[in-house]
Amino acid sequence: MAKIISLINEKGGVGKTTSTNIIAACLKHNNYKVLCIDFDPQGHLSFSMGAKTKGCNTMYDVIRRTVKTRYAIQDSNVTDIIPANDMLKSIEQEFTGVGNEQLLKEALKSISPLYDYILIDTPPELGLVSANALVASDVVIIPCLPDGYSLRGMIKVHETISRLKHAFNPDLVLGGIFLVRFYGREKLSRSAAEVLEEITKSLDMPILKTRIRHSNIISHATSVLQLNVVEDRKHNNAVKDYQDLVQELLERGTL
Ligand SMILES: Nc1ncnc2c1ncn2[C@@H]1O[C@H](COP(=O)(O)OP(=O)(O)OP(=O)(O)O)[C@@H](O)[C@H]1O
Ligand SMILES: [Mg+2]
Repeated sequence: MAKIISLINEKGGVGKTTSTNIIAACLKHNNYKVLCIDFDPQGHLSFSMGAKTKGCNTMYDVIRRTVKTRYAIQDSNVTDIIPANDMLKSIEQEFTGVGNEQLLKEALKSISPLYDYILIDTPPELGLVSANALVASDVVIIPCLPDGYSLRGMIKVHETISRLKHAFNPDLVLGGIFLVRFYGREKLSRSAAEVLEEITKSLDMPILKTRIRHSNIISHATSVLQLNVVEDRKHNNAVKDYQDLVQELLERGTL
């Protein structure tokens, strides 16, 4: 059975999609079988991997069970993916009863034996979609920007995730927070370092050692050129950082 990992942060633009893409590429590079789930109506992960989102089966069809999950899988420039488009938004309106947090978990059961890892990219809010991702997952990891406000926001994100864990998925592992878009080798600003120290004590999840450096090249290569950056930009600092992050997660037994 695949290990299922969600990338979650209710704050927008913190690197969830980019991290899902590149971590998936790193795992594939290490010869693992990887499936990505685009579970965000924005469809950014699908775009970044060069997947189709129109005239094909998407996560919306999978959640509504109008198609078997395996028939929604596409291969892409990076890994296998089930794409999403803005139709996915309507599941919040269509599924309003109790027990709707289990829809994704049920949908992934039949394809889980085909993969080593399933990575789920989520939208910047903790509604029904993200709740489904957390319930379906073995592990959650959280990208965070390296500034005082974003780090302070982690306390609230952590609270929400912990609440969902206790309500729906007690076995969920809080795999860690990692800092994204870090500038060069510079240290955290004093205020951010102080907040980091404060939250390290207050949260029952690790702050991962590896930090992902800022790289406009990597941003362009994923969000515009749709490249597999682990193959096509392998000397880039941010790509090397993602490889180190995957190594750290493997060594910790999180992945
Ligand atoms: N290491 C990096 N260096 C520079 N830019 C980056 C890096 N990682 C991501 N970006 C850029 O930051 C922006 C936000 O990243 P991304 O889309 O991955 O965030 P997100 O958390 O998925 O956003 P949303 O919440 O809207 O889904 C994008 O333009 C992306 O290309
Ligand atoms: Mg995103």
